[in-house]
Amino acid sequence: MTSVPAQPTTPRPALAHPDVIGRLTLEQKASLVSGADFWHTQGVPDAGIPSVMVTDGPHGLRKAGGEDAIGIGSSNPATCFPPAVALASSWDPDAVRRVGAAIADEARAEQVAVVLGPGINIKRSPLCGRNFEYASEDPFVAGAFGAAMVEGIQSRGVGSSLKHFAANNQETDRLRVSADVDERTLREIYLPAFEHVVTTQQPTTVMCSYNKINGTYSSQNPWLLTDLLRGEWGFEGLVVSDWGAVSDPVAAVAAGLDLEMPPSGGEPVIVAAVREGRLDEAVLDVAVDRLLTLLDRTGPALAAQDPALDDAAYAAHHALAREVAASCAVLLENDGTLPLDPSGTERIGVVGAFASEPRYQGAGSSQVVPTRLDDALTAIRATAGEARVDHAPGFRLDGTPDPALADEAVAVARDADVVLAFLGLPGAAESEGYDRTTMSLPDDQLALLEQLVGVNDKVVVVLSNGSAVTVTEWRDGTAAILEGWLLGQAGGSATADLLFGLASPGGRLTEAIPHHLEDTPSYLNFPGGDGHVLYGEGVHVGYRYYDTLHVPVAYPFGHGLTYTTFAYGEPTAVPAPDRGPNSWDVHVTVTNTGERAGSEVVQVYVHDAAARVPRPAHELRGFRKVSLEPGASDDAVIPLDARAFAFWSVRDHRWEVEAGEFVIEVGASSRDVRGRVTVTSEGDGAPHHLDATSTIGEWLTDPVGAQVLGAALAAAGEAAGPLAAASDPGADAGWAEMVRQMPIGKVVSFTDAVTRDQVEQLVAAYEAASAGR
Ligand code: BGC
Repeated sequence: MTSVPAQPTTPRPALAHPDVIGRLTLEQKASLVSGADFWHTQGVPDAGIPSVMVTDGPHGLRKAGGEDAIGIGSSNPATCFPPAVALASSWDPDAVRRVGAAIADEARAEQVAVVLGPGINIKRSPLCGRNFEYASEDPFVAGAFGAAMVEGIQSRGVGSSLKHFAANNQETDRLRVSADVDERTLREIYLPAFEHVVTTQQPTTVMCSYNKINGTYSSQNPWLLTDLLRGEWGFEGLVVSDWGAVSDPVAAVAAGLDLEMPPSGGEPVIVAAVREGRLDEAVLDVAVDRLLTLLDRTGPALAAQDPALDDAAYAAHHALAREVAASCAVLLENDGTLPLDPSGTERIGVVGAFASEPRYQGAGSSQVVPTRLDDALTAIRATAGEARVDHAPGFRLDGTPDPALADEAVAVARDADVVLAFLGLPGAAESEGYDRTTMSLPDDQLALLEQLVGVNDKVVVVLSNGSAVTVTEWRDGTAAILEGWLLGQAGGSATADLLFGLASPGGRLTEAIPHHLEDTPSYLNFPGGDGHVLYGEGVHVGYRYYDTLHVPVAYPFGHGLTYTTFAYGEPTAVPAPDRGPNSWDVHVTVTNTGERAGSEVVQVYVHDAAARVPRPAHELRGFRKVSLEPGASDDAVIPLDARAFAFWSVRDHRWEVEAGEFVIEVGASSRDVRGRVTVTSEGDGAPHHLDATSTIGEWLTDPVGAQVLGAALAAAGEAAGPLAAASDPGADAGWAEMVRQMPIGKVVSFTDAVTRDQVEQLVAAYEAASAGR
C-alpha cells in the first residue's frame, strides 16, 4: 500500500447468481445491501431471497429477544464460553474449534445464520477496553485462534464474521479515529491474523472496523476491502460493516462493502448514485451476489430447522465451558501451595467479592445472558471435603471503601491455613466503548491484599480481569497467582478444579505483563488525540519491544506454570522443500519429568541474525500444545514456512526472505528458550526494484544488480573511479561504506567518471537482465 486508490484496482468477479440479479430492480438491489433492521438482512420474497438473522458473538450467542433491539443484558440465554482473552490463552486450537462448534449449534437452534465473531484485533496496549474480546498481542497467536474459531463455527454450517478489519486497537474515539500506521507495521502486525484466517478458512463474512486507517474509513477503503482482502488474499465472502461504521453508503459499496448493518437510509442514496452515474450498477450487482452467496452457504443449516436445545445439550455445553476454562487459566506464580490438598487443609479462607459474584465476561455487544453461572465459592465448598471454608467479600465491587468488610476478611485470613483471595477488575473498569487509564487493581483491593499477606503467609491470588493488570506492586508475599482472566459461565467450578488439582492449569500468556504501564511500547502514543493515533512503536508491539530492548517484565509472553515439569531435548530443523523454499520442520522432544499429568506449550521463535531492516529480537512463528502423563514424551513437530522468516519490504512492497542465517529458538516462553538451531536461507531470489535512486549497496546485494554493475565496472576499468571502492576489498573500509550508501544516480554529482547516460544504461541493463526473473 503506497496510497489508497479512489476505486479498487482488482477486476470485478463474474456473478454467481446472474439470473436472480437480472430479475431485481435497482431499488431491490440497493435495499439488499442496506440491511433490514438491527439484526436482519433484507429479503426479497418475490425473488425467493430470504431475510436472515445475524447475532453477536463472539464467545456465546447474544440473540436479542423481545422489545429491546440491541438486547445487551436481555438476550435469550446461551452458554457463555470463556471470552477470547481466556480462550486464546489455552493455546489449544482444538478446544477453540469445539467451542466454535457448540456456539454454532446454539445458533442453529435459534435460526441464526451468522455469529458475529471472532474478534482478532491485536492487543496494542493493555489499556484497550475491549482486550477481553481479543486474543493476543501477537499476530500468529491471534491468527491461530481466529482460524480455529471460524473453522469450528463453520463446521456446523453457520456463518462467522471475522472482525474488526482492521487496525481497531482501541475504544477511545473508535467511531472516528484514524489509526496512523506505516505499511510494514500493518503488514507484519495488524493484518497477518486476518490474512491467515481468510486464506485458510474463507470466513463467510468479514466485518470492517469503525476507525479510519491513515485517514480513510475502513468501510470505504478500496485498498483494504477489495485489493488486499479479495485481490491479494482471495476472500470470497461478504464484507459487512461494523454496526454503524458506514459514513458514505455509496463510497462504501464502491470500495467493496457488501452489506451495511444496521440500515442507515442508504437505499435511496445508492439508487440515486447509480441513476446519476456516480456508482456503476455492476459494482452493486457484485455486492448483491455476495449476499446471495452468503444465503447459499448458510441456508442448509437454517433449513434443517434444528429444534431448541434441551437441558442435556445445554448441560453438555456447560461441561465443555468448564473443561475448556481450566485449560485457559494461567498459573503465573506458585511456591508449591497449589494444588491444595483438601485432606491436609483444615481451614480455607476465601476472600474477595469475586468468589461469590463472579466476573466471567466483559461488557458491551459480546455480553451473553448465561444459561447457568457457577461461582467459585460454591465450587470450593463442594470440593474442599472436610476442610472448613470461611468467606468474606473484603471489598465492594463498586470500589467504595468499606473498612468493616476489609476487617472481616482479615479476620478470616488470620484464622485460615490458606487464603484464596479473589481479586480483579470490577465490570465498569473495562468495557467496549472506552479504554482504561490504569493497569492497576483498585486501591481498596490492594490495601486489603497488603493486610492479608501481613496475617497469612499462604495467600493465593485468583484474578478476574479481561485485560492485563500490573502485579509488581503486590506479588511479593503471595504464595501463588492464578490469572483466571474472564472464564465464562463455568469459570467458578473450573477455578475450583484447578485450585484442588482436579485439572491442571493449561494456559499461557498471550501478552507479556509489564512491570509498569509506562513500560508499554505504545505508552507515548495511546490513545492519541484530535482524531489520530500514531502507531509510533511500529512493529515492536508487546514482547517484540520488551525482548528487543531487554525491558524487564513481570511475566514474559508465553509464560505459564503447571503442576508438573517438562524437559526439552535438542531441537532439530529438517528441510521441508515440498512446502516451498525456505521451509523447515522443527522437531523437539518434550518429556513430562514431574509427578502429575500436564500440558506444555512448545513455542518456536525466529531470530534474523543479520537483517537489512530493524527487526524484533525474535518473533513467534509456531507452537504446539502437548499433553503428557508423568514420564511420557512426545516429539513435537512445528512447521516453519518461508513466511516465518520474512519481513515486509517497503522498498519492493512484498514479503522478503533475506539470504543468511536465522536462529530458531524453542522454548516455554519468549524468555525461557530451551534450545536453538540455526538454519541458512538462500533468500527468496525475488528481484528488487533497482533504479537510479537505489544505493550502490542495494545494487550489490541484488544478484542481478551486482552482475550488471560488476560488468559495467569491469568494462570501465580505471574510469570507474570511486564507484569501484564499494566492491573492492582493498579499499578503505570507511570510504567503501560511504560509497555503498550513495544512490547510484547521485554519483554523477560527485565524480566525472560517471555520466547520467551511463546510469540510465545501467538501469536499462538491469531491467533487461531481470525481466525473466
Ligand atoms: C461492535 C461489534 C458487534 C456489533 C453488533 C458493534 O458495536 O463493535 O463487535 O458485532 O456492534 O452488536
